Amino acid sequence: MRNHGLSISRKSKKIRDFVAETKLDVKDFIMPYFITEGSKIIDPVRSMPGIYRLSIDELMKDITGLKDISKILLFGVTDKKDGSANYAYSKNGVVQKAISTIKNEHKDIIVFADVCLCGYTDHGHCNIITNGEVDSTQTLHALTKIAVSYAEAGADFVAPSAMADFQVRSIKEGLNDSGFSKTGILSYSAKFASSFYWPFRDALDSSPRFGDRKTYQMDYRNQDEPILAIKTDIEEGADIVMVKPALSYLDVIYRAKKEFDVPVAAYNVSGEYAIVKAVAKEDKIFEKEIALEMLYSIKRAGADFIISYFAKDISKWLT
Ligand code: PBG
Repeated sequence: MRNHGLSISRKSKKIRDFVAETKLDVKDFIMPYFITEGSKIIDPVRSMPGIYRLSIDELMKDITGLKDISKILLFGVTDKKDGSANYAYSKNGVVQKAISTIKNEHKDIIVFADVCLCGYTDHGHCNIITNGEVDSTQTLHALTKIAVSYAEAGADFVAPSAMADFQVRSIKEGLNDSGFSKTGILSYSAKFASSFYWPFRDALDSSPRFGDRKTYQMDYRNQDEPILAIKTDIEEGADIVMVKPALSYLDVIYRAKKEFDVPVAAYNVSGEYAIVKAVAKEDKIFEKEIALEMLYSIKRAGADFIISYFAKDISKWLT
């Protein structure tokens, strides 16, 4: 009996370890932004209440207002589309200009820039298509040029999302050869062909004009393919790997975190955001409660970073 207290406290310590609490930190979050040409533009994305396509001047105002969020992910919105996605790697492209402006005015912001062709091709696919077929050589060439142009503008991380084979290796070589070996690569490694991207395609006007993305994005029935893809990306030089979408793929996040040593990011995508907005309607408390429960589950599964359209709300909710 004399040891009773001791054993209880040992046991409760064990239980405490076992029930270790998940902590959500605003520093884990990356806020996505859609950037468009022009000035004074705050153009609402119809399917994503609270999210806007912003011109660079408005983006700067928004970034100035970010409280504790220090990481952002940029997407370009343009109508300058063609067969070879030329505008994507133009020095004067909207993303390149946004990156250099941010880096001049907000040195403490870590800038990630999405590297893909779908917002810049007239057919809306993530690849260059030649004679009706995916042209891998031209696609890798274009993706690498985009990544180098972002690095030149000052991006801290480039984020290839095209799901082209060897994109990480090609970009890594391109960055090294151009003197940007310090620019990081956040790879969309395990990217599933998902209906949860629908509102995003509305934001970028990037829905494929023919076919779908199932030939290069993953089938959600597959259990091992995402893990193999992550392994390959790490071997090719990825610094951070990503699982996308997040909520229907918590098992993949969990496995990625357990099996690899690099940081794991999860993308709480546009459809996951839109669903919360649709269900909660104008009820702010309900919205906060559902969103937090979702975001905690992503963190609990093992995500080190969460890309989320709720990032700005999180910085209010967690304080
Ligand atoms: C580009 C890209 C997409 C998303 C991020 N990068 C769309 C897609 O692959 O169809 C989706 C992000 C979101 O839904 O929030 N390839």
